[in-house]
Amino acid sequence: MKIAVVGSGYVGLVAAASFAEIGHQVICADNDLQKVAALQAGIVPIHEKFLPEIISRHCGERLTFTTSTQEAVRASEVVFIAVGTPTTEAGAADLSHVECVARDIARAINGFKLVVEKSTVPVYTNEWVHRAMLLNGAPEGQFEVVSNPEFLREGTAVTDFLYPDRVVVGCSSERAAQMMCEIYSPVIDGTYANEPTAIPRPEESLLVSQFIQTSARSAELIKHASNAFLAMRVSFINAVANVCELVGADIEEVARGVGADKRIGSRFLRAGLGYGGSCFPKDVSAFKTVAQECGYEFRLLDEVIRINEDQRQAFLRKVRTALWTLKGKRLAVLGLAFKGDTDDIRESPAVAIVKALLAQECSIAAYDPAAMERAKVELACENISYADGPYEAMHQADALLILTDWEEFTSLDLARAKSLLRYPIVLDGRNLYDPELMAGHGLSYYSVGRTAVVSKPVADPESQVPVQNGNDIQAISPNGNGHNGHAVHTNGHNGNGHHNGSLSAAAKAMKASANGGASTNGSNHAIPKNGNHPRK
Ligand code: UDX
Repeated sequence: MKIAVVGSGYVGLVAAASFAEIGHQVICADNDLQKVAALQAGIVPIHEKFLPEIISRHCGERLTFTTSTQEAVRASEVVFIAVGTPTTEAGAADLSHVECVARDIARAINGFKLVVEKSTVPVYTNEWVHRAMLLNGAPEGQFEVVSNPEFLREGTAVTDFLYPDRVVVGCSSERAAQMMCEIYSPVIDGTYANEPTAIPRPEESLLVSQFIQTSARSAELIKHASNAFLAMRVSFINAVANVCELVGADIEEVARGVGADKRIGSRFLRAGLGYGGSCFPKDVSAFKTVAQECGYEFRLLDEVIRINEDQRQAFLRKVRTALWTLKGKRLAVLGLAFKGDTDDIRESPAVAIVKALLAQECSIAAYDPAAMERAKVELACENISYADGPYEAMHQADALLILTDWEEFTSLDLARAKSLLRYPIVLDGRNLYDPELMAGHGLSYYSVGRTAVVSKPVADPESQVPVQNGNDIQAISPNGNGHNGHAVHTNGHNGNGHHNGSLSAAAKAMKASANGGASTNGSNHAIPKNGNHPRK
C-alpha cells in the first residue's frame, strides 16, 4: 500500500521505516529541512535499536523522505499523522501541529484518503480532525479519519512495532477497518517473522497479535488509559518503596512477592526515581485534564503525579544524608537518559536531579552511553563535565550516583570504583546492586526502598584503606534522622576481594528476571529480583 507518514520523530520515523520493512511504499514528511536532509543522507537522528538497519535497507527505495506534506499526501492512499502533541501550560495536549497537518491533507486531497491519527491525542481528536478537514475544503466522502494509537517503547520501538501485543484501530466503517487490517496483516498474523531477513522476534512477544477494532473515542481512551495505568503501577511501587524504607523491608522482595500473583504480574513494578520520558508525564497530565474537561475529577492521577515528583526529592534528600553539605562536592553521575537503551532525556529524572545538584553548587562529572550529546544542550553549565566512561567520571568524586538503568551499569568493577572515589559512597536510584554486595566491598550504599548500608568512616580518604569487613557495616535509617532501627543483614563475608564474578552473575540474573523468573546468583548475593528487566 502507498503510505504517507507525517512527522519523523520517534513514532513517525519508526512507523515509516517499519511500514517499509513489512512491504509498503512509504513517504515520510517532516517540515524540519535539516532533519530530512540528514535522513536522506542515511543519518538516523535517534538512538533506537534496529532503526538504522531498516532505514538503510529501504531508504531511497520503499522509503523516501520529503519536506512537503502535500507531496506525501498526493502520493499516498493512507496518511498517518505522527506529529508531536506537547503539553500546554494548562496540562492539556497541544494539538496545533495535528490541526496543521489536517489542513495540509485537506488542501492536497486528490482522491480517497484514509487519515490515521497515530500521535497520542485526547478523546474527540478524531472528530476535530474530521471537522478541520471539511473546513479546509476536503469533500465529505473523500476521506475517513481513523485512530490508531502507538504503544512503542523507546529502546525497543522497532520490535514493539513489528511484534505488537495488539493493534488498536478506532474507526466507523468496514472499509477503513479492512484497509488498516491489510496494512498491519504481516505483523498481526505473524508472517513477517518468517521472512528470512526479518528483525528477530523478541522471546516474550506474541506469535500472533490481536487486532482490536473499536470506536474512535475508545481507541483514543485506550492509549491514555494504558499509559496512565502503567504510570500508576510505577508510582504505586514507589509509594510501597517508601513504606519499605520506613519499616526496614526490602522493596525488591516485596515487588517479587506481589508480582508473582498472576493477576498482578511482575512488569512495571520496579521502584526507582520515578517515570520520565516523552509519554508518561505528558499523557498522565493530558488524561487528567481531558477527564476534568469532560466532568470527571480523576484524583487518582493527581496522586500518581505527586508520588512521581516526590521520588526525585526523596533521592536528593538521600544525597544530602550521605554527603551532608553539597556546595563544592564533586559527584560522579552515571546515566542521564530517562531510562536505559535510549538517548532521550525528555522529562528524565536523571537530568532533573543533576539540575538540582548543580543549583546546590555541586560539580558533576557525568557519563551516559548515548544521551550525552543531548544532555550537553540541556545542561550547558560550567560545573558539569562529560566523561568518556564510567570510571573516568568516578575519578576523585565524593560519591557515585547511578541515575539510569543502563545494562552497562549493572556490572561495574566495584573495587576499581572504590579506589577511584574519594569517599566510598554510592547512591543508586535504580536499585542495580545488592546492598550486601556493596557492603562487602566496603561501600556505603543508598538505594530505593531498601535500608541503607553505611561503611565505617575512613580517617583519610587519600590513604585508600582496604575495605571494611562486612561486620563493620552498620545500618542507618535512610532519612538520616539518626534512628537506627533496621539492622542490615550482613553475612560477614570479607569485601577485600574483587567480586566481578558475582557482579556479572547479578547482571545475568537481571536478564533472566526480565522473563519473570526469580533468580539467585549462586553466591549468596541477593540480586534485584522483582521479575523486571532493568530497562523494561
Ligand atoms: C511508554 C509506554 O510503555 C509505551 O507504550 C508508550 O507508547 C510510550 O510511553 P517509554 O516512554 O519508551 O514507553 O518507556 P517505558 O519503558 O514504558 O518506561 C516509562 C518510564 O517508567 C521510564 O522512565 C522508566 O524508567 C519508568 N519505569 C518503568 C519505572 O520506573 N519502573 C518500571 O517498573 C517500569
